[in-house]
Amino acid sequence: MTTTTQDTPLVSEQQRAVEEELIETVVASFEHAPDARLKTVMQSLTRHLHAFVREVRLTEAEWSAGIEFLTAAGHITDDKRQEFILLSDVLGLSMQTIAVNNEAVGDATEATVFGPFFVEDAPEIPLGGDIAGGAKGQPCWIEGTVRDTSGRAVPGARIEVWEADEDGFYDVQYGDERVAGRAYLNADEQGNFTFWALTPTPYPIPHDGPVGRMLQAVRRSPVRASHLHFMVTAPGLRTLVTHIFVEGDPQIEIGDSVFGVKQSLIKRFEPQAPGAPTPDGRDLAGQDWARARFDIVLAPAAA
Ligand SMILES: [Fe+2]
Repeated sequence: MTTTTQDTPLVSEQQRAVEEELIETVVASFEHAPDARLKTVMQSLTRHLHAFVREVRLTEAEWSAGIEFLTAAGHITDDKRQEFILLSDVLGLSMQTIAVNNEAVGDATEATVFGPFFVEDAPEIPLGGDIAGGAKGQPCWIEGTVRDTSGRAVPGARIEVWEADEDGFYDVQYGDERVAGRAYLNADEQGNFTFWALTPTPYPIPHDGPVGRMLQAVRRSPVRASHLHFMVTAPGLRTLVTHIFVEGDPQIEIGDSVFGVKQSLIKRFEPQAPGAPTPDGRDLAGQDWARARFDIVLAPAAA
């Protein structure tokens, strides 16, 4: 006799018992973990992994391919290239983890993916400074405020910003130790901030490794919607990791390869004519530029 359940199609009672006994044995092996949270995570992980194998009736060749895939992801990963974050991102796992950990609070700004290109020790710039550091692209004036969900200004909030250049590369992808397209600044006493960046352009996530080959195999685009990364921190408030996206970017409709777009994060980047006066009097030598506004609302820190 065979039975069909949601995750074990067409297996005999005898076979089903074998499979379920193994799961219970593995789950029980974590029973004495001294850390209760670790025990919970490992037991749940076990159940879900086994459910996956049983649902798709994973073949041994597929298991081997999976091991080879993860091994390749490890080999290509170093302190500048993080294939596992890419993998998490393209599976939507990063966005799901963010959703679980950043519950909506009032009008707090929504979070999105961290991505693999944040680097510690970015240079500090003053208010009105330029994060470009020589990176190529259209200059873009960004201004906004940082407030909490009760509307109070957050003086001195730390704002980390990073982005790709107009060729779609982050500084760390050039492999020459340059630092460009990233910096941090602090909001003023009224929570206001201004800085120069580059108008974001679409770029593909690195797709010359195992994650790229997987996307190719399933005919998915590696391209991300144009965005500028932010991480905003202030004492007593929940750290915000997010992006702003460019209104009208066709890639938003096509689909962002890591599922990061949220409607509230799409901002208007107003194009400015060549030679138009800049907010701070900066001379752009007749170059065109853009400007955008991003008002940030930080949620209270978790109790
Ligand atoms: Fe990015």
